[in-house]
Amino acid sequence: MEVVIAPADELARLAADAVEGLLRADPETVLGLATGSSPLAVYDELARRHKDGLSFARARAFMLDEYVGLSADHPERYRNVIEKEIASRVDLAPGAVQGPDGLAEDLPAACAAYEQAIADAGGVDLQILGIGTDGHIAFNEPGSSLASRTRIKTLTKQTREDNARFFGGSVEQVPRHCLTQGLATIMSARHLVLLATGRAKAEAVHQLVEGPVSAMWPATIMQLHPHATVLVDDAAASRL
Ligand code: GLP
Repeated sequence: MEVVIAPADELARLAADAVEGLLRADPETVLGLATGSSPLAVYDELARRHKDGLSFARARAFMLDEYVGLSADHPERYRNVIEKEIASRVDLAPGAVQGPDGLAEDLPAACAAYEQAIADAGGVDLQILGIGTDGHIAFNEPGSSLASRTRIKTLTKQTREDNARFFGGSVEQVPRHCLTQGLATIMSARHLVLLATGRAKAEAVHQLVEGPVSAMWPATIMQLHPHATVLVDDAAASRL
């Protein structure tokens, strides 16, 4: 696992460099997109590079996770967040971004279909990741099976509190369930690029880099990945 400690703007450029390198080598690159605040600077940088000629027209993208039950037009529905933060700012083709369907009537079937869609696309080339304060990646909360695939999960109190800021500060407005790629799904991407900034992430980053591989700190599974890059600022790295 490669760990880079640098200022936040430099981290965003490094992640964008990895995406750009892949797109230039293979315009049909399959990207893995994350929500949350951590990747936003990367998306800003990619939008800038798109203006300078970087094309996503033949690329495809898969989202990590989705809330269950948020209405199709809810601004915090992850599909809408990804559309706003990145897809609409570059030239990804309509339909090129897929995500788990949190409004499906048959949620287990939607999860299985999503796994199949990722496999049919040949897998994810580069997966962008953030990390929760409790060490979750995507919505794989502590205790998640290290062998898990896309499935329904119950959000922890901690994550619902962390994410309440996106729902007008009200924990009650945060959905209780989500669909998320599993840890094994994420591990099958060919390159993992995780970004973390700020002191609130310091313990999770400490566990990720230096802790034992454990389902109690789900991100630690990344230690077993052959090509994982961890991009952190000084504050997030303060416990290393
Ligand atoms: C959410 C998302 C994760 C994200 C995490 C951290 O729970 N499902 O994919 O990594 O939050 O978010 P942030 O980057 O805003 O700290």
